[in-house]
Amino acid sequence: MKISVCGKGGSGKSTVVALLANEARARGYRVLVVDSDESNSGLFRMLGFDYPPVPLMELVGGKKNLQRKMGQPNVLAESRIVLEDLPPQHLVQKDGLMLVGIGKILQSLEGCACPMGVLSREFLKKLALAEGELAIVDMEAGVEHFGRGVETSIDSVLIVVEPPLESVNVGQKIHDLASGIGVKNVWAILNKVPSDEIATRLKTELKERHIEVVGCIYFDADIFRSSLEGRMPAKGVAVQEIKDVLDRILSKAGLPASG
Ligand SMILES: Nc1ncnc2c1ncn2[C@@H]1O[C@H](COP(=O)(O)OP(=O)(O)O)[C@@H](O)[C@H]1O
Ligand SMILES: [Mg+2]
Repeated sequence: MKISVCGKGGSGKSTVVALLANEARARGYRVLVVDSDESNSGLFRMLGFDYPPVPLMELVGGKKNLQRKMGQPNVLAESRIVLEDLPPQHLVQKDGLMLVGIGKILQSLEGCACPMGVLSREFLKKLALAEGELAIVDMEAGVEHFGRGVETSIDSVLIVVEPPLESVNVGQKIHDLASGIGVKNVWAILNKVPSDEIATRLKTELKERHIEVVGCIYFDADIFRSSLEGRMPAKGVAVQEIKDVLDRILSKAGLPASG
């Protein structure tokens, strides 16, 4: 399964990615996290790594040289990429959890992020997962990546929806775009929910928009606190809640509960 975690900025995409990745890894899946958010850089810490992987963008010579180098031989030029093919500096890994990064916007006037969208799309398209392997993509905020076709290479989209209505609206847009390009599974997960009442209201709201909800993560002070320290909590309410979410996702995708 290649699943892309999407949603409004700050809705909790990276948090959900890290929680899901840790839980799937604990169940014996080999999990590849793909950092496809050009702006934020803390995901490696949330996943427990000491340093980030060298972005794949460097493999094509950085953004400026992307077009010139596209024709030269390297792993990205292969028609099929398996995890073992990735040069070690581009893949940090520990105990079955792996991270690759597409690229970050580091300089002003560097231009827009479109080339990174293209690289994300091509990498995900060529990525061939073996049995017991999952790819979880931490997507950039908003909907622009749909315009770049990143989701044409994945089979599932998980939309993170937080209480403000704006987040539901963005969620609906993502749902419609993903369904429109034929993504097989499109689900929503509620995040930062403050009460049962709000959970019910959000579920009703999403049901009316024909968006299937696969789980609900309540506001969890442990998550918030640990994010200030750049790590993910190993236990707590959200860590428990994500187990149900993963169960549902795997079962809907026809995959076993453990890898
Ligand atoms: N369920 C939650 N409870 C409390 N805080 C949360 C929760 N989910 C996310 N957060 C906090 O919200 C902020 C944004 O989350 P993040 O995962 O970085 O969002 P995104 O990747 O969508 O920009 C972080 O400080 C994070 O710790
Ligand atoms: Mg993020």
